[in-house]
Amino acid sequence: VDLPAFRAALLNWFDAVGRDLPWRAGAEGARDPYRVWVSEILLQQTQVSRGLLYYERFLTAFPTVQALAAAPIEDVLKAWEGCGYYARARNLHRAAGFVAQQGFPATYEGWLALPGVGPYTAAAISSLSCGEQRAVNDGNVRRVLSRLYGEKTPSEAWVQEKANALLDPTRPGTWNEAVMDLGATLCTPKNPQCPQCPVNAFCAAFRAGEPSAYPAPKVR
Ligand code: ADE
Repeated sequence: VDLPAFRAALLNWFDAVGRDLPWRAGAEGARDPYRVWVSEILLQQTQVSRGLLYYERFLTAFPTVQALAAAPIEDVLKAWEGCGYYARARNLHRAAGFVAQQGFPATYEGWLALPGVGPYTAAAISSLSCGEQRAVNDGNVRRVLSRLYGEKTPSEAWVQEKANALLDPTRPGTWNEAVMDLGATLCTPKNPQCPQCPVNAFCAAFRAGEPSAYPAPKVR
């Protein structure tokens, strides 16, 4: 893959038609950490369309991390009502107590240490709000990279290695969101929209003419 050309094609596409989501406001690598954090916790198990509703509700109830830390847990659970996976709300509240005391983490490792924040979420938040060069890795990223390289049975380590190598070091947070949006909107598991894909010229699965065969279903 011609890295500069690939990055330019994906980022130009994202700049032009990437989803306009409320937590995406702000300068590259310096997004509001509270907003990014709340959005990433919500999006762990909730679709973007539903997450939007809860995001607005949660930020209205708790506009700052101080407000969240000071609120009774009952109020936090109330704002989360209907969203499911309530451990997320409990962890957010508990973590808000630490953050209100110590400030927002400034690194991937710092975010990873908070309750409710795993490797994916720490990579997303630290790239978006700290400008850290951390590539996210989930099922969407695995599918996109499997197709791009024509690797039908990608291992976890392979996906992480490729994701790290592709990450645009000058815009790591936007890069991660561009890959997420590609996987969510065009490079979907079924019926991928290859003719509209900004990086189809780089894609081995597209060239092979059978993109939805990548990756192969996992054998259990
Ligand atoms: N899924 C997880 N994080 C996301 C984000 N920042 N934007 C869109 N979808 C996401």
